[in-house]
Amino acid sequence: MGRPAEEFLTALHEIEREGETAISSASSLDDLEAARVAFLGRKARLSLLLRGLAELPADERRAAGAKGNTVKKRLQELLEARRAELSSPAARDGAAPAYDPTLPGRSRWVGARHPVTQVIDEICDIFAEIGFVRARGPEIETPEYNFVKLNTPLDHPAADEHDTFYLPGNLLLRTHTSPVQARVMEKHEPPVRIVVPGMAFRRDPFDPSHAPAFEQIEGLAVDEGITFVDFKASINYFVRCFFGEDVRSRFRPSYFPFTEPSAEVDVSCHVCSGAGCSTCKGTGWLEIMGAGMVDPAVLETVGYDPERYSGFAFGMGPARIAMTRFGIPDIRLFYEGDARFLEQFASSQ
Ligand code: DAH
Repeated sequence: MGRPAEEFLTALHEIEREGETAISSASSLDDLEAARVAFLGRKARLSLLLRGLAELPADERRAAGAKGNTVKKRLQELLEARRAELSSPAARDGAAPAYDPTLPGRSRWVGARHPVTQVIDEICDIFAEIGFVRARGPEIETPEYNFVKLNTPLDHPAADEHDTFYLPGNLLLRTHTSPVQARVMEKHEPPVRIVVPGMAFRRDPFDPSHAPAFEQIEGLAVDEGITFVDFKASINYFVRCFFGEDVRSRFRPSYFPFTEPSAEVDVSCHVCSGAGCSTCKGTGWLEIMGAGMVDPAVLETVGYDPERYSGFAFGMGPARIAMTRFGIPDIRLFYEGDARFLEQFASSQ
């Protein structure tokens, strides 16, 4: 290529770069018009340059002309695009940014453990400090483990079809986590100290205080010489750690087939400190668990010597506890998977 063509291309390239800068940095329609006149107008350098094409050697004219037209077209397109930007409503209102600052910001999703999982982990961590290890067992159980080994004959009302999801093949969905007591004791010699978080299932209506599938935490301690004093002290230790030093507890006599004696444990209402409010339904107390000394009949069934060993057991519902802790009025909120509800617990973990 001869010199004239080279000079042409160098000049063309320079005009292209300068034109691009002038167009993209134009901050008003007036600026843009000035850039148009300077780079695409009749007297602009580009027009003069293209007019000078005729002076190029004939064999180079065509290629140089095509390049010149490409640059011209490109600058025209950039100009139109910039004109559209500068004509947008936000730009016309004098706001420089091409977005609407009055729109609400887009929030970022923050992952969090489920509130009931937070409560389960906290409870298990507290018991871990006094030697309880986590254990688990199957959600599909046999009536034998769910009832019989827990000193509950199958004609007991708890085994009623009305309350239990029976499955084909003499199976059922466990109605509590207590069968894991028997499964663990059959496999391990004492001492046993376990906490068992897991799901339990009952044919309950799905209403503000019931769910047909819900979490439980079972606890069991069996060893030589465990007394009611150990039982109360362990539960009270848990209550203080979980609910706070000021919270009082009380053990109400109750009945469960697998414990003797049995108790229900209440804690003073943390909302009203026992005066009575809507959280505790005016009683001043919140029930947190069923519990008791393991019935010797259960120890015998799993092959432990009830003369030598004794223990205590408890079962609690972490969803109910999470309701009082977080002030949740309806248990169903925990199971609906609504992110707007769940994301509120990101900061409590
Ligand atoms: N399994 C009982 C229930 O689901 C709760 C329970 C009560 C568990 C007393 C225990 C216990 O281990 O000792 O209602």
